[in-house]
Amino acid sequence: MLADDSGNYLIKFHGFWFTPFFLQATEELLKHFKPLPNDVILASFPKTGTTWLKSLLYYIVNRSSIDQLTRSNPHKLVPQLELQVYGPHATSPPPFPSPDTSSSNRIFGTHLPYQIIGETVYTSDCRVVYVARNPKDTLVSMWHFVNTLEMFKTFPWPLEDFVDNFCKGHIAFGPYYDDVLGYHKESMERPKKFFFITYEELKRDPKTHVTKLAEFLGYPFDNEEQVEEVVRSSSIETLRNHEVNKSTDSFSFFEFPHNSYFRKGQVGDHKNYLTKDMINRIDTITREKFQGSILNHEEE
Ligand code: A3P
Repeated sequence: MLADDSGNYLIKFHGFWFTPFFLQATEELLKHFKPLPNDVILASFPKTGTTWLKSLLYYIVNRSSIDQLTRSNPHKLVPQLELQVYGPHATSPPPFPSPDTSSSNRIFGTHLPYQIIGETVYTSDCRVVYVARNPKDTLVSMWHFVNTLEMFKTFPWPLEDFVDNFCKGHIAFGPYYDDVLGYHKESMERPKKFFFITYEELKRDPKTHVTKLAEFLGYPFDNEEQVEEVVRSSSIETLRNHEVNKSTDSFSFFEFPHNSYFRKGQVGDHKNYLTKDMINRIDTITREKFQGSILNHEEE
């Protein structure tokens, strides 16, 4: 057990750090979750583009009801397994397709690493999409996000301490590197089941990657206009302008305000915050862990 700088306790489980809340939910999930063959699981480390991918996946899979995303936050439409479905505050009956029904087209998000949820998804024909983001932007995004919490309003979490925690892996769902490596390995070995995409490549060429994603999921587009519509409708500029996403209300099941999921949405924002020493420290660890093969992190 370990206390982070905010005084929150983190507990180690299969090599990863969890808050008691998420650990309880994870244990429930591992006991009860049986993915159906048509399920799509979006896996991600926090702040790597989960919201964006939830919107894209929702559009790709539910093309006829895409206007839902103008009225609901993507996290409402694509529930997080360890929060809305198996979290201690999960509503019953849940306001989304129940994990016990056999309805198709279910999409769930999870921040659980493959090392933990792997056996559960492996035993089903469900498909898994993983989004990775360069560690420096992930860290900066996460630091901003946690500081939106009421408990950090008076004493924000200092960036130096957050960098230290991130590098040591001492953050909820950390270590970041092991999470990326777990899914990357699977996507190399089983490309029909795992789709690995990076935030940066999606930013660079959204149409190509959204087309590939739709093909992977078995929902190919009929024409380019459809792809353009999906890319436009799920862009941060579009999403942040929906009234529901401007709101400072929080979800009943989580304390983060709706608008905190839409900050800048840029590649390379870490340059505005991290010192040279911080960047060197993170780059050194990243080189060591990824051995240059996964993310072109130093250029981003
Ligand atoms: P920044 O804090 O760098 O702006 P997650 O969804 O995993 O919580 O990640 C949040 C990050 O994704 C934030 O990054 C947020 O601004 C960005 N984001 C949210 N919606 C997005 C979208 N539709 N397109 C691109 N980036 C998006």
